[in-house]
Amino acid sequence: MTVAVFPPALLRQAHDRLWARLSPEQIQERIHNQLCQANLSLGYQRCTFDTLDPSQDPEAFQVCRAYAEQGQYQGRKGLILAGTPGNGKTSLAVAILRRTVEQTQGRYSVRFWNVPAGLAQLRQQIETPDPQADSILSLTHNRLLVLDDLGKQKMSEWVGEQFYLLLNTLCTQEKQVIITTNLALSRLFQRLDPALVSRLTKLCHPVALKGADRRL
Ligand SMILES: Nc1ncnc2c1ncn2[C@@H]1O[C@H](COP(=O)(O)OP(=O)(O)OP(=O)(O)O)[C@@H](O)[C@H]1O
Ligand SMILES: [Mg+2]
Repeated sequence: MTVAVFPPALLRQAHDRLWARLSPEQIQERIHNQLCQANLSLGYQRCTFDTLDPSQDPEAFQVCRAYAEQGQYQGRKGLILAGTPGNGKTSLAVAILRRTVEQTQGRYSVRFWNVPAGLAQLRQQIETPDPQADSILSLTHNRLLVLDDLGKQKMSEWVGEQFYLLLNTLCTQEKQVIITTNLALSRLFQRLDPALVSRLTKLCHPVALKGADRRL
């Protein structure tokens, strides 16, 4: 059997032509579906740049907003939002994710992954093997990935291997990643293997977010 292989540029053109034929209602439905599949936790589902208050760190807020509005995605560096607990990093990451889905009219699949919770789930799958279960590499199928709370997990050989698989694939496929951490960047980098630090640096620009804990 001969399998036809279409050049990516041709596939993209066909995809864009298909999209151009969608009605505004169909586009809204696609946007809604992408956001439903993104795995956002309930508390963050309403975060947008219009609902968040920029006053604690207007500069970082503007960097994130401009980043989300720029609309050029392939091969573009992501952001790593670092700051003390509760100052709004995850909310900004979710606002970027939402805006990306709107800007791309639902064409981009996006995913929110809380690192400690996601690792715990993966570990559970090892203990009770499930043939249907996804590996950490399934995260790299998305065009934009939010890795939330990196640095909170305990490091072990297995965690290091999982991070290497993930970050290395994201790097080689030039995927876009938004990372949040409540460690200062220097502390985060001390906790990680140099091979991971190198890949993180290639993947993301650092943004230090100022401001008090909004939960208090
Ligand atoms: N810009 C903002 N305007 C209004 N409320 C906000 C803003 N940013 C965050 N909040 C609220 O503050 C709380 C903490 O926000 P968020 O979870 O984004 O902080 P975080 O920096 O990710 O915290 P952690 O470091 O603990 O993960 C949430 O209840 C959120 O709704
Ligand atoms: Mg957070």
